[in-house]
Amino acid sequence: MIRKVCVMGWPVAHSRSPLIHNHWIAEHRIPDARYELLAVKPEDAAETIRHLHKLDFVGANVTVPHKETAFATLTRHDAVARRLKAVNTIVTLEDGTLEGRNTDGYGFIANLKDGAPDWRPGEGPAVMLGAGGAARAIAAALETEGVREIRIVNRTPERAEALIRDLGLKSAKAYSTAETTAALGGAGLLVNTTTLGMKGESDVDIDISALPRDAIVTDIVYTPLETGLLKRARLAGHETVDGLGMLLHQAVPGFEAWFGVRPHVTDELREIVLADLGMT
Ligand code: ATR
Repeated sequence: MIRKVCVMGWPVAHSRSPLIHNHWIAEHRIPDARYELLAVKPEDAAETIRHLHKLDFVGANVTVPHKETAFATLTRHDAVARRLKAVNTIVTLEDGTLEGRNTDGYGFIANLKDGAPDWRPGEGPAVMLGAGGAARAIAAALETEGVREIRIVNRTPERAEALIRDLGLKSAKAYSTAETTAALGGAGLLVNTTTLGMKGESDVDIDISALPRDAIVTDIVYTPLETGLLKRARLAGHETVDGLGMLLHQAVPGFEAWFGVRPHVTDELREIVLADLGMT
């Protein structure tokens, strides 16, 4: 029997998940496994998720805009998905039921540890720019990792406050963009969780001079690999970590659950994805 997995999204054509998973399927010689793109309109998402098995899929990745629908549709979730109320990975459990999981925060942390092995979560507050869906996963993961203080800077600070309340973050505080300098003081990590800096969008324009020199700066945007923010941070002497690894690492737990092999994020895979993005 073919074990089929898909990534569902709308639009989904840009997704690099098939490239990543089919690379691992070939690398580990998983017999009869296939990973496909599945374009699913918002109005069809719940139905598609409910009928995943009938459509011959043993699992799926879920991307924008279906992560919240997947959470609401599934009846079983792991603790992270339950906390975030969003699902990016669906697996079939031994008893045949579908479980929703969320590996976005895992991917973020794994990439950060990979790129900055000297990062110590307990040393210094973490500053996050943005309070959207990606920010939720990252804030929860930073807290779980042992970061003692999270400062969320957002154009709309009320949205950051709502995020903190909703996730029950114990030591997080919301800041408006005007308060960025205060937020950066004494910080050990700065993360851009917004789409600012992506090709075609304007750059993050905050002044980072108040950030201590030994703070690490990372971005979830990976097109370009070195965003305007990362470039400014590098020139100011900060250690920087680009966002591509988050995409690669978030795929690891799903692949392991579906196919029983824990794959590795290698330089070769990074090069393959970069070439596909036209960035080599
Ligand atoms: P995602 O789910 O991908 O994180 P989102 O929910 O749309 O995306 O969140 C986007 C984030 O980028 C938000 O924090 C948003 O700020 P607001 O909450 O104030 O809207 C931020 N963002 C987007 N465009 C921005 C801009 N031009 N300037 C400042 N912040 C911006």
